[in-house]
Amino acid sequence: MHIDIISVIPELLESPLSHSIMQRAQDKGLLSVAVHDLRTYGLGKHRSVDDYQFGGGAGMVMRCEPLAAAIDDLQARGEYDEIIYLTPDGQTYDQRRANRLSLGTRLLLICGHYKGIDQRIRDAYVTLELSIGDYVLSGGELAAAVIVDSIGRLIPGVINDETSALTDSFQDDLLAPPVYTRPAEWRGRKVPEILLGGNFPAIESWREEQALNRTRERRPDLLPPGE
Ligand code: ADE
Repeated sequence: MHIDIISVIPELLESPLSHSIMQRAQDKGLLSVAVHDLRTYGLGKHRSVDDYQFGGGAGMVMRCEPLAAAIDDLQARGEYDEIIYLTPDGQTYDQRRANRLSLGTRLLLICGHYKGIDQRIRDAYVTLELSIGDYVLSGGELAAAVIVDSIGRLIPGVINDETSALTDSFQDDLLAPPVYTRPAEWRGRKVPEILLGGNFPAIESWREEQALNRTRERRPDLLPPGE
């Protein structure tokens, strides 16, 4: 999987993508991520990428020409499965979308800033608009990091324990059950007996029940009606 990201603050993406599982995915050659500085395509002496909005109003808008030049340049290197614009008015990102996107081979993520990007770029190039939640970030970079991380860990071979990503919360529309490690008793609080006995079918049923209870309590909206 290859992911290109267009950003005016590429530094914001350095740390999230260069540690832990994301670094391992890249070291193993399963994921490559390239962050492209939009200013390289900026206009004039000041490499300008934004301008006042037509019709007046506070906030700058990211101009068409630098974005189009960047996208054309990157698209010439290979077709994308999706050209994604990160924006609070996009469709809400979730695990189902992460699963689907992780099956692709090339993605382009466009990070907006200020008031966002000129609508004509959205109309001409963007194939998918995603929001990571109902709040406004200062730019799309943190949203892009969330998306790369959640997709990257789903690529087969990235996580050592192959089954681990499948037992995450949301993977089967259930929240994950509680987990425990040593010691078996801490400050008088005991690990549930069932987990210590080695009866794996019974442990599996216990986990399913706990996952269902937790989902009923915290996120009943995830369950089909009547569950
Ligand atoms: N850019 C600003 N806010 C955002 C959000 N909530 N999701 C995706 N991109 C954004």
